[in-house]
Amino acid sequence: MPLKTEAPEKAMSLKESMSGWQQRVNTALENRLPKGKIQPATLHQAMRSSVLLGGKRIRPVLVYAIGQCLNADENILDNPACAVEIIHAYSLIHDDLPAMDDDDLRRGQPTCHIRYGEAMAILAGDALQPLAFQILTRSKKYLPAENVLQMIEILAAASGSHGMAGGQAIDLESVGKKLNIAELENMHIHKTGALIRASAQLGALCQPTVTTEQFEALDHYGKCVGLAFQVQDDILDIEAPTETLGKPQGADAALNKPTYPAILGLQESKELALQLHEDAIAHLAIFGDKAQVLRELSAYIIGREY
Ligand code: IPE
Ligand code: IPE
Ligand code: MG
Ligand code: MG
Ligand code: MG
Repeated sequence: MPLKTEAPEKAMSLKESMSGWQQRVNTALENRLPKGKIQPATLHQAMRSSVLLGGKRIRPVLVYAIGQCLNADENILDNPACAVEIIHAYSLIHDDLPAMDDDDLRRGQPTCHIRYGEAMAILAGDALQPLAFQILTRSKKYLPAENVLQMIEILAAASGSHGMAGGQAIDLESVGKKLNIAELENMHIHKTGALIRASAQLGALCQPTVTTEQFEALDHYGKCVGLAFQVQDDILDIEAPTETLGKPQGADAALNKPTYPAILGLQESKELALQLHEDAIAHLAIFGDKAQVLRELSAYIIGREY
């Protein structure tokens, strides 16, 4: 009798995978955010609209893609994916405040402080931050407590003064200054890179059998794509129109922010993004085809148009 052969698993394109994960995290976020009718209702509405309306969901996509590479269960990936996206949403609310970048458009909508006022926007950010950690602790349903504690520590470090908030402080103090490349890289690694790198680390920790070699390769990937992401963000601030970006084009130049194109020029910035992509995928060979989505995701990050 002929052996029954299983149909080969059809590889999904990056677009299909991303769209599935975006939908998945949107549902998970919707289920985890306080409903808009629950008191204090205005605060909850401000939190919900800042998280739920739009966004590429790159950080959650990264959590799922890393998890897929390690055959982690998607149900385990939901809480960390939501946690990083919620920290990201809080960082955007505060980034847009008049005291920071003073932007009135985000994800094609009025920013949180334009819609709800500055005080409520500050509070929405304040409330989203602990919510992220509360959600992350729910991972204890699926993972050993040590893994969950490690995840909490990673996300806390990536969000705080040695991570995103620290990078934002450097950003604010650098306005109008001419940073050298090392200083600029340090700022970008912190303000944007840290949370993206943490997304990769969190995804990896959702597989309890992950080896040190695997974790380090994925961490290296996260570090490279994290920096590449902000290099491309700087490039898009110059090249992409407001309607495509969903945030005001030329905002960096208007505030005299140090950016890669401002310091290296556009062409060299694009070459740097490409180098970072190549570096990101250089250590993925140990995963073979399982890392194909990660390779494509890195290419997408430096080729994206918004
Ligand atoms: C914008 O991040 C802010 C940066 C850290 C560069 P994204 O480009 O991921 O923004 P959304 O989530 O898609 O709106
Ligand atoms: C933001 O960097 C980094 C954050 C921590 C939010 P930008 O200020 O360049 O982000 P955009 O361009 O406003 O999205
Ligand atoms: Mg900023
Ligand atoms: Mg900004
Ligand atoms: Mg920017």
